[in-house]
Amino acid sequence: MLIFDSGIGGISILKNIKKKLPNKNYIYLLDNKEFPYGEKKESFIIKRSIKIINKIINLYPIQIVVIACNTVSTISLHILKKKFNIPIVGVLPSLDQAMKITQNKKVGIIATKATIKSSYVKNIISKYTNHMNIEVIATNELARIAEKKIRKISFSNFELKKIFYPWMILAVQPDTIYLGCTHFSFLKNEIQNIFYKPINFLDSYTNTTKIVKKYFLNIKNSQNIKKNVFLYSKYNKNLDKLLYILKKYKFNDFKKINLN
Ligand code: DGL
Repeated sequence: MLIFDSGIGGISILKNIKKKLPNKNYIYLLDNKEFPYGEKKESFIIKRSIKIINKIINLYPIQIVVIACNTVSTISLHILKKKFNIPIVGVLPSLDQAMKITQNKKVGIIATKATIKSSYVKNIISKYTNHMNIEVIATNELARIAEKKIRKISFSNFELKKIFYPWMILAVQPDTIYLGCTHFSFLKNEIQNIFYKPINFLDSYTNTTKIVKKYFLNIKNSQNIKKNVFLYSKYNKNLDKLLYILKKYKFNDFKKINLN
C-alpha cells in the first residue's frame, strides 16, 4: 500500500489504517519538496500525483494507493482512477454527516485554497446551500501550523485566531466544522480552544479506512511489500524533528526519492 501526502497530514490517515489493519506494510511518501500543495495550480497537482504513482508502482509491488490528501483527492482522484489499473482511494470531503448532526444549521468547512477552489468542493457546497448555512475558510497557513505542532515547534494562538477570525465574528458560529485537509486533524484541540462552545469536528478518514479495509478483506495473499518504507522528496533538518512520531509507525527504511 502506498500512502502519500505533501506532509504529515497523511499520518492521520496512516494512524487509522494501522488501527484497522495492524499487520499490513506500507510505503509513506512525504512529498515535502512541494509542500504546500494548497498553493499549487490544478495542472501541477494532477501531473505531480501521476508522477508519484508511476514512480512508486515501478519501484515497489504496490496493490493499492491511498491519497492521504484532500487537495490531491478533490482535484485529481477521478483522473488517477481512470489512468491507473490499481485501486486508488482518496479522502474526499462530504457534508452529509454535517447536515445530520448540526443543531443550528450552521456548518463550517475549512480546507486548503486549492481544495476550496476545486469543482468537487463547489458541488458539495451547492448541494446543501438550501438546507443549511455553510461558512467557508480557504487557508494554506493551517497546514503549516500543523507541521510546526508535529515538530514541536511553537506557534501562537494568535496565528490560529487570525485564520478563524471570519467565523469568530459571526453572530451565530458554526456548531459543526468539516476539516477538509488531513493536516488539520492534528489541531482539533487547539481549534476547539478558540471557540466558546463545543464543536462537532468531522473529517474524511473513517470512510477512507473502511474502503482500504474492505479491499484487503477481499484479496488473498495481500502482503507484497516486505517492510515499511518512509520516502521523502527533499532532505532538510526539519525532517529530523519528525523522527519521534515516525518511530510509532515502525518504518524499517528511510530514503530520499527523486521525483524530478
Ligand atoms: N494534507 C493536505 C490536504 O489534505 C495538503 C496540505 C498542503 O500541502 O497544502 O489537503
